[in-house]
Amino acid sequence: TALVALTASAQDYPTRPVTMIVPYAAGGPTDTVARVLGQYMTKPMGQTVVVENKPSAGGILGPEAVKTAKPDGYTILIHHIGMATTPTLYRQLRYDPLKDFEYIGLINEVPMTIIGKNDLPAKNLTELIAYIKANKDKVTYANAGVGAASHLCGMLFMSAIKTDVLTVPYKGTGPAMNDLLGGQVDFMCDQTSSTTGQIKGGKVKVYGLTSKQRVASLPDVPTLDEQGLKGAEVGIWHALYAPKGTPKAVIDKLVASMQAALKDPELLKRYADMGAVTYPADKQNPAALQAHLKAEIDKWAPLIKKAGVYAD
Ligand code: MLT
Repeated sequence: TALVALTASAQDYPTRPVTMIVPYAAGGPTDTVARVLGQYMTKPMGQTVVVENKPSAGGILGPEAVKTAKPDGYTILIHHIGMATTPTLYRQLRYDPLKDFEYIGLINEVPMTIIGKNDLPAKNLTELIAYIKANKDKVTYANAGVGAASHLCGMLFMSAIKTDVLTVPYKGTGPAMNDLLGGQVDFMCDQTSSTTGQIKGGKVKVYGLTSKQRVASLPDVPTLDEQGLKGAEVGIWHALYAPKGTPKAVIDKLVASMQAALKDPELLKRYADMGAVTYPADKQNPAALQAHLKAEIDKWAPLIKKAGVYAD
């Protein structure tokens, strides 16, 4: 009868609000992408999709919470590239991205920007690199902990300029941005979903994009690559997951609702305005996410091992 009850409730799903866990602080880039998606999934779901933040350095507590949540569709996870880098970065990770979750689909990809506090003397990337090298014992780099997108980008950037600086970890780049704006830290690499407004508002200095090409929302910002810095290219992809064992009927409803949201012209404009590129329809499904996650784990593992950075 328990199975009958579960099947019946899966067919009625959802009868109450659905919680989307964000593994980083409110006000940051993952939170921003999540809140837009949640808003536009609400109509096709027929129930509110509520965002709940479970901030932690490296974003590892969110997946842990979702892994152990009831697999009934009322708790889902949004996460980024960290799902693919943490299995290598953390040798004692308490979840397995390839075993502990059901896949819903890929959402979008977001480039990153190297930004600095406004009173940093460097006016462009060349000057920034010279400044960092000349002041490497006092320059500080903010990130959201080992496993964060900002950590990965910083790792690639510092390796590309062959200089390491002191890193200050936060539980999300939302709070890191506050300290950058306040001048407590010098620079960071953060997703355009968070930095576009600050760049346009003249609140931070920008030194380049980590994408292959420039983005329409920040037409004047050059890529790192076109300024001659190779090896720091990285795009941050987002996806939705559910706990392992969530019934198929429930996953189907989540997939259909995500796909409906990602077709909405209003959502597409809001994502485009923050530099995000929404995945094409054929990637917005469980099979495409599973394949992408696996490929990304395989892509980053040797690079992380070569860099020799581990969280534990
Ligand atoms: C956040 O939402 O705070 C970020 O995605 C953190 C990061 O990964 O850099």
